Amino acid sequence: MKSFRGIVFDLYGTLYDVHSVAGICEQAFPGKGAAMSQLWRQKQLEYTWLRTLMDKYVNFETVTDDALRFTCAALGLMLEDDMARALGDLYLRLEPHPETAEALHRLKDAGIPLGIISNGSHKSIAQVVNNSSMGWAFDELISVEDVQVFKPHPKVYELAERRMGHGRDQILFVSGNGWDASAASLFGFPVCWTNRNLGPFDVLGATPTVVTEDLTAMADWVLE
Ligand code: LAC
Repeated sequence: MKSFRGIVFDLYGTLYDVHSVAGICEQAFPGKGAAMSQLWRQKQLEYTWLRTLMDKYVNFETVTDDALRFTCAALGLMLEDDMARALGDLYLRLEPHPETAEALHRLKDAGIPLGIISNGSHKSIAQVVNNSSMGWAFDELISVEDVQVFKPHPKVYELAERRMGHGRDQILFVSGNGWDASAASLFGFPVCWTNRNLGPFDVLGATPTVVTEDLTAMADWVLE
């Protein structure tokens, strides 16, 4: 077994499937669900980066709502306020990836402290975790709200290191987002990139410690 003192996970796209919203988007706007879900997520990320560069932090629910409004405008879809609220709520009820619970159980049984570090607000993270009955898994739920900038600002990774209570070289950082995995690695964490789509790694001057297809393979690697 590897000797990590803790493991800290990204939330959106790593433990939880951001495209689990596509089905309801499809019901709301037939024929547009997949395109909407893709553009919505892409804009949501862009807005977190831009707001961090502009030093204009707003919380993740606001960024998600702003990105939804842009997405609907770009796709020519009429978005009523009620629908915007209902779709925004989907981000509080994301589904975990199918193997998430079992992988976390195995790591927890091995006695490894687990945490989440996310762009989500405290409220968003707590709701996503509670709505999927996964509260048992985590020792720390860490939100960027405490530093008022989004990933990949180094302050976020520093916050994770501080809250997990061990030096960065002793904490495994797990992310399915290549840019997040890159930034965490450049900060000094050992990193596992979960590469579900078997895509190329972002070219940002970092190399992950290990690449796995999913969280089962990540837990196998930690526990072997
Ligand atoms: C998060 C995004 C980056 O959870 O996926 O922080």
